[in-house]
Amino acid sequence: MKIKNIFLTGASGKVGRALLPELMAAGYRVRALEFEETLESKATEILKGDLRDPSLAKKALQDMDAVIHMANCKENRELFLDTNIKGTFQLLDETMRCKHIKQFIQAGSDARAGIFFNPRPYPIDENFPHAAYPGYYAFSKVLEEVMCEQYRIQYQTPITVLRFSWVHEKDDFLCHITLKEPNFGVPIWKELAKTAKQKSFFEKKEDGVAKLVHPGGKPGVRHIVGIKDVVQGVMKSIGNPAAIGHAFAITGPSAFSYDVAAEYAAKKLNLPVVEFELEGFHDFSHNISKPRSLLGYDPQYDIFKIIDEGIAFRKAGGKHQEIKYIG
Ligand SMILES: NC(=O)c1ccc[n+]([C@@H]2O[C@H](COP(=O)([O-])OP(=O)(O)OC[C@H]3O[C@@H](n4cnc5c(N)ncnc54)[C@H](O)[C@@H]3O)[C@@H](O)[C@H]2O)c1
Repeated sequence: MKIKNIFLTGASGKVGRALLPELMAAGYRVRALEFEETLESKATEILKGDLRDPSLAKKALQDMDAVIHMANCKENRELFLDTNIKGTFQLLDETMRCKHIKQFIQAGSDARAGIFFNPRPYPIDENFPHAAYPGYYAFSKVLEEVMCEQYRIQYQTPITVLRFSWVHEKDDFLCHITLKEPNFGVPIWKELAKTAKQKSFFEKKEDGVAKLVHPGGKPGVRHIVGIKDVVQGVMKSIGNPAAIGHAFAITGPSAFSYDVAAEYAAKKLNLPVVEFELEGFHDFSHNISKPRSLLGYDPQYDIFKIIDEGIAFRKAGGKHQEIKYIG
């Protein structure tokens, strides 16, 4: 399958920002959709536009061989139907009509399986049915995938769905696991502080490293992904005939246990470990044998590497960016 010209949405977003330079370096011609934020890196062509505009898809897909659809809005009741659902529909429908698109890569999410909020098979794999956790964002991720599935079934549209886990870059994970702000993701440790010892960290503005445990003390287990592995997942999928018609879990090489992550980060940061109990957190781990075997996906960013890169980022004076997706 020969792909040269790619229409990329969400090019200024978290994943798009990391992906665009890799696509360019690999020699693709990229038409990047620019919405409200100016693109940081070079694209072959910039198309300014809004997914909600019904005339966008026709212009955007003209002369293209593939679509990589990364744009969407997050938790937003007012916007999600027009941006995520109608926006994706318009791109899929134009793909079906124009016939020259050889691959449509849809950014999916493990939110579609309701991980974390609900007990799930351990490990979970791609065959688990859609069953999102509460919220319009997770609802979007299911509806986007259902539309993709139907275009594949009804019109043989060449779909690839890449279901990312919670994506980490820079010092995201340190912002998550340490007590001081900025916070990244859920849970918010301050909200779980019950004992005087736990509360004193926040009262005295002292930092620590959180260890999430279930009632009774068993550490929580979670599976996240480093942004470079996300980019690798997309790069291994684009133009790959083995990727057509499939959904893949694009996540880290292994799940992490909060006790292991907390001990490791605490030692590196010279901070104490503080235990927080959370009822209703459900451990999850993804089986990634499908992307490994079909795509040759070989993720590199385990929790130790994610922590090490976060520390290196801070040491180099890096500042955390505004957080849009709470994870
Ligand atoms: N970040 C994560 O942890 C994560 C996890 C799983 C799945 N995903 C999925 O990956 C994809 C990319 O996520 P991200 O974190 O890069 O998102 P992001 O919020 O950082 O970026 C979203 C992009 O969509 C664009 N956009 C929003 N509304 C638009 C509109 N009306 N018209 C055109 N463009 C519009 C924004 O300009 C931005 O470039 C999304 O589909 C997301 O659901 C992300």
